[in-house]
Amino acid sequence: SASEKGGWSSFMAKEVSEQPDAVRNTLRGRIHEGQAVVPELTEFGDDVLAGIRRIVVVACGTAANAGYVAKYAIEKWTRVPVDIELSHEFRYRDPVLNPETLVISISQSGETMDTLMAVKFAREAGAKAISICNTQGATIPRESDAVIYTHAGPEVAVASTKGFTAQIAALYLFGLHLARVRGSLSEAECAVQIAELQAIPDKLATTLLQESTVHELATWMADTRAVLFLGRHVGFPIALEGALKLKELAYIHAEGFAAGELKHGPIALIEPGQPVFVVVPSPRGSAHLHPKVVSNIQEIRARGARIIAIAEEGDVAVLPFADTVIRIPLASPLFEPLLAVVPLQIFAMELATVKGLDVDQPRNLAKSVTVE
Ligand code: G6P
Repeated sequence: SASEKGGWSSFMAKEVSEQPDAVRNTLRGRIHEGQAVVPELTEFGDDVLAGIRRIVVVACGTAANAGYVAKYAIEKWTRVPVDIELSHEFRYRDPVLNPETLVISISQSGETMDTLMAVKFAREAGAKAISICNTQGATIPRESDAVIYTHAGPEVAVASTKGFTAQIAALYLFGLHLARVRGSLSEAECAVQIAELQAIPDKLATTLLQESTVHELATWMADTRAVLFLGRHVGFPIALEGALKLKELAYIHAEGFAAGELKHGPIALIEPGQPVFVVVPSPRGSAHLHPKVVSNIQEIRARGARIIAIAEEGDVAVLPFADTVIRIPLASPLFEPLLAVVPLQIFAMELATVKGLDVDQPRNLAKSVTVE
């Protein structure tokens, strides 16, 4: 009903706007004196965490994209290899599992059948399982050894938004907790990352102010048949998520690519007028990758692409080559995805709205896929 939406045009609009609180509430009670101390993990046992040799993330849809983002951070901070597995591929493949494997499931609803079965399968094979879940008492957390709840609040719109940013926040807490226990980061290094994480809610609020730029984009793209998304490093899973959102909500063919793959295929798709969103790495934090992505932009611009750059404040190098620049606040590279995803969520929602579609209940999709 209208009152449940609290004055918003849709649940999705409301949930997108709630992301600062979703992250803030997920961090609450899990940070002490600049260190990640996740109570749910202390029960798990430091000796167990210290003995982990490999992490496997199982998830579907947007939750899997959150896992892809977190892989970059968890590997960097803990030096434990992280693999991302789509739940339905994982469980039918005879995957390598043992007691030193930690399986992390990510599920907003906690009821996705394939993810549930993947967790059961992993535990039967002797692996430990941690659940990242937004729904208290759901089935997947009950079937896991431990659960880190995201406190995003109920997510009603079928397409996940605040669930996603809260999942990344929870996974980052997990990564920093593990780094502390394993001693792979110093206390000072952990504190720097924690400060970045704590700054995200306010930066999310600032990012949400870009809404009008995104709205204009959606208006001129109303008749677009296909949209491409490019990203590199942590920007790559954000490109995947941007494409997923557009498919789900606006029924537009959309694909996300790793920018480095451009020459291996996707560049053949570029023709005059083709809109391409590019998640641009920071020129400060990712000085080695920024010029590579700018040169990708030049390559596709020369072939007629319409460039929509998502770039940090003050990045002037993209200006000569972008048709539209959407700004995100400064953050260190691993934290940029939490911000860069927001304009892509809004874009998909606005485009669906311009096309007269139901953004909360896209055709053919269910909030939670509880069958195989
Ligand atoms: C469905 C929803 C998606 C969601 C996915 C995984 O496909 O439409 O928005 O990302 O399921 O859901 P879960 O509850 O496991 O995160």
